[in-house]
Amino acid sequence: MATELDKDTVARAYARWAPVYDLVFGAVFDHGRKASIEAAERVGGHILDVGIGTGLSLLDYSRRNRLVGIDLSAPMLHQAQARVKEHRLANVDGLAVMDAQHLGFRDGVFDVVVAQYVITTVPNPEATLNEFARVLKPGGEIILVNHLGAEAGPRAAFESLFAPLARRLGWRPEFPWERLAQWAARRRGVRVVERRAMPPLGHFSLIRFAV
Ligand SMILES: C[S@@+](CC[C@H](N)C(=O)[O-])C[C@H]1O[C@@H](n2cnc3c(N)ncnc32)[C@H](O)[C@@H]1O
Repeated sequence: MATELDKDTVARAYARWAPVYDLVFGAVFDHGRKASIEAAERVGGHILDVGIGTGLSLLDYSRRNRLVGIDLSAPMLHQAQARVKEHRLANVDGLAVMDAQHLGFRDGVFDVVVAQYVITTVPNPEATLNEFARVLKPGGEIILVNHLGAEAGPRAAFESLFAPLARRLGWRPEFPWERLAQWAARRRGVRVVERRAMPPLGHFSLIRFAV
């Protein structure tokens, strides 16, 4: 089994990805990014985008909603800050370097927490989801879009082989849906609202939890 991720390795990995991130991951993740924003905007209000990275999502949010973005990686976030400035995004209340596992916000302040391609890059996904639930108002939603590991077959075998290298690149390719489902089952008041396959190849999923 691959070793666990640690935060410093992830931060170093994204400092290396930052200059080329948009080129490598801009288009390939775009469908899921847009689908998760559409879902977030159906709730609307005060939205927290966790692991906002270079801010590729920023222009897709409607200017009606208030947005806060956080990311562990300062080099990634610098690009998001440049986007806010360039496009004069007055709906963005702030961007901050912060660990998703220890959010520096009071309880119950957001209507939606969005995390696009993030939950499998954090060392402790369950603690991270607990933080998401904590900062949400009652009736709020957690919206994730992420690659999830195959349950069986050749893709599962490949993901498991690739896992040690992927740790150094900053993610877990073999991360199972079951881990998210079990988190929701253990948390009183949390329910899975939707799990929908996303391109490319349906290997990604959009997941919504109501809190
Ligand atoms: C695959 S990128 C996704 C970026 C962006 N959401 C997108 O759709 O392109 C993962 C992002 O999560 C951030 N990240 C990883 N671990 C984190 C943590 N513990 N707290 C906050 N952000 C984290 C990384 O720095 C990186 O910017």
